[in-house]
Amino acid sequence: MRVFSGARPTGRQHIGNYLGAIRNYAELQEEYECIYCIVDVHALTTMEDALSTSRIQSNIQEMMLDWLACGLDPQKSILFVQSRVPEVLELHTFLSMITPLGWLLRVPTFKEKVRVQPHNVNYGLVGYPVLQAADIVLYKAELVPVGEDQLPHLELAREIARRFNNIFGYTFPEPEAKLTNLPLVLGLDGEQKMSKSLGNDIELASSPKETEERVMTAVTDPARRYLSDPGHPDICNIFRLHHFFNSEGVEEIARACPEAHIGCVECKKMLAGRMNACLAPMRERRENLARKPQYIREILDHGAERARIIACATLGEVKHKIGLT
Ligand code: TRP
Ligand code: SF4
Repeated sequence: MRVFSGARPTGRQHIGNYLGAIRNYAELQEEYECIYCIVDVHALTTMEDALSTSRIQSNIQEMMLDWLACGLDPQKSILFVQSRVPEVLELHTFLSMITPLGWLLRVPTFKEKVRVQPHNVNYGLVGYPVLQAADIVLYKAELVPVGEDQLPHLELAREIARRFNNIFGYTFPEPEAKLTNLPLVLGLDGEQKMSKSLGNDIELASSPKETEERVMTAVTDPARRYLSDPGHPDICNIFRLHHFFNSEGVEEIARACPEAHIGCVECKKMLAGRMNACLAPMRERRENLARKPQYIREILDHGAERARIIACATLGEVKHKIGLT
């Protein structure tokens, strides 16, 4: 079975990206043939000026550093940048002809974008899920590791694949989402999903000191204003993070916090220490890789080359079935 997933070039990755996606990407490599793509063309749908696009290359570089540091292995997986395999744009055009506009206008992420960027409801934004479907089916991938927010896109990809198969004969497997069984990683505000744009994140590449400083700013149980107030770990995001980075310590905190035997400052210090210990090997690998930008470029060249071989074969088949050759 072939695995495909894509992520927009957001630059340095944070611990939410790691726990929610990258960690799973790395695990899947042991079992499947994996293709991981940095989707720079998708990113253009929300970029309005040359200042934002000027950051794409450095974002790709930074993201690759994190991916590699977290164990994505170019020997095992194909790692590449979307626009380097332009066949996907051709396939996107063909798929767009069999995708009813109504399907796209109903997609929740599209409606959300219309809400947040009403001044930039561009044509590409409507086709976003068609491009995503093209990403996946171009490689005839069957399994797509994604978060829950991507399920409508995956459903659409399945519908598009099915429709193509019905019209032109069986070509694409219907891709299936592989949900990461992860409780949501919230940001330091304890309210919204961890995200770079909200500024509530902790970068994997932060120094131990920065990590501790960031953790100390996190919102905990708002009902705990004094050390003597009993806490509620079940609603506290710091507690959630302890689960990931301090599994041996959670039980003790679950007991001590509601009895006010541990204060938030101490609890956070402990978390930061555990986080830094867990992230240390990745940070070291990242530093070493960062000294070799040429090596990153080679990996992406090689990845694009390998991806392109598969892409060209599929596209040839598609054009033939449609009657263009
Ligand atoms: N839409 C995805 C996101 O925002 C990114 C993406 C693009 C993707 N193409 C993909 C994910 C193909 C999985 C498969 O996260
Ligand atoms: Fe959260 Fe820890 Fe404070 Fe309890 S002690 S509220 S778990 S930060």
